[in-house]
Amino acid sequence: MPASGTLKMLSLAKQLEREGQEIIHMEVGEPDFDTPEHIKRAAQEAMDKGKTKYTPSAGIPELREAIAENLTAKGVRASPQEVLATPGSKHAIFCAIAAALDPGDEVIIPSPCWTYEGTARMAGAKVVYVKTTQADGFRLDVEAVKEKISPRTRMLLLNYPNNPTGAVTSRQDLQSLADLAMDHKFWVLSDEIYDCLVYEGKHTSIASLPGMHERTIYINGFSKAYAMTGWRLGYAVAPAELIGEMVKIQQASTSCAVSFVQEAGIAALRGPQDHVREMREEFLKRREVIVDGLNSIDGFECIKPAGAFYVFPSIEKVGMKSAELCKLLLREAGVAATPGKAFGPYGEGHVRFSYASSIENIKKALERVKSTIEKY
Ligand SMILES: Cc1ncc(COP(=O)(O)O)c(C=O)c1O
Repeated sequence: MPASGTLKMLSLAKQLEREGQEIIHMEVGEPDFDTPEHIKRAAQEAMDKGKTKYTPSAGIPELREAIAENLTAKGVRASPQEVLATPGSKHAIFCAIAAALDPGDEVIIPSPCWTYEGTARMAGAKVVYVKTTQADGFRLDVEAVKEKISPRTRMLLLNYPNNPTGAVTSRQDLQSLADLAMDHKFWVLSDEIYDCLVYEGKHTSIASLPGMHERTIYINGFSKAYAMTGWRLGYAVAPAELIGEMVKIQQASTSCAVSFVQEAGIAALRGPQDHVREMREEFLKRREVIVDGLNSIDGFECIKPAGAFYVFPSIEKVGMKSAELCKLLLREAGVAATPGKAFGPYGEGHVRFSYASSIENIKKALERVKSTIEKY
């Protein structure tokens, strides 16, 4: 099992903080905004009403309905029976992979990518990586995916907007990938947790394309859109038969998502959405500051990400490995970032900075990175 590179940096940074150093955290992927008040209130009211017991494993019916309604409004057809509420979308991914893959099955994953490999390995599946590159805007080349398909391919795992690259897959590319999935009869696990943070154009889900309702395991959650990382609430949407298998895995592993958190989830989906829009506007401003700032530092080359809240500049011209550079930045600049090598075999040569931090902090971090690199 590979350990999480982000969490490793976080624990190093925390250690330095305990020793008295001031650290700017740009390694972790969580919004710096607070959970909106009406969502917190819904959880408090649920507790006061005694909603503190086990719930059905797949989630309370009202939450499953709210998720299905929300998705249908986004163009992704879903019925409540096709929804599984989970403690965090990470657990939805775990249940999906465990239910859909057998030992020896292959899952194709574009890299740089988030930490899916450990989950696939737990299911005994083999990860087959496809490279995306900065020169190509980290676009997934459909022909490269095609070359990796074998008789054991059972799943293609997509994440758009992407963590760590911020790349968004176009409707046209999604259509070509959907055609491959239908021709070769494999699942598409579509992790769309950053769908609320697309800065150019409109987000399209592969699940909304003709014929893909039956082939997609759609993943989303509350952590990013509603600043609820610590609440642990996410969900999967898939054909009812597969959801039935995933429910068994949830029963065997954690029973259900937290009862009053599920009530908060209903309030998040059915309540006002202005906070999501405001958060997006703020990230948009921060993106400009960080991209310009990084490009002004010798050796850094940063493209403008189309979504999410990460930048993933190339550091090849700095002449250091990503882990070495991150350690230098942490110790000398007091800036925590995640080494590119944490994002699959094709992440080396890059560093990920999360811009889920105030503009003031971003500017301070950029100055410190710049002077450290100049000194080096
Ligand atoms: C791409 C991606 N998918 C899933 C998750 C997991 O989110 P959750 O907090 O819902 O488990 C993250 C968290 O950073 C992520 O970046």
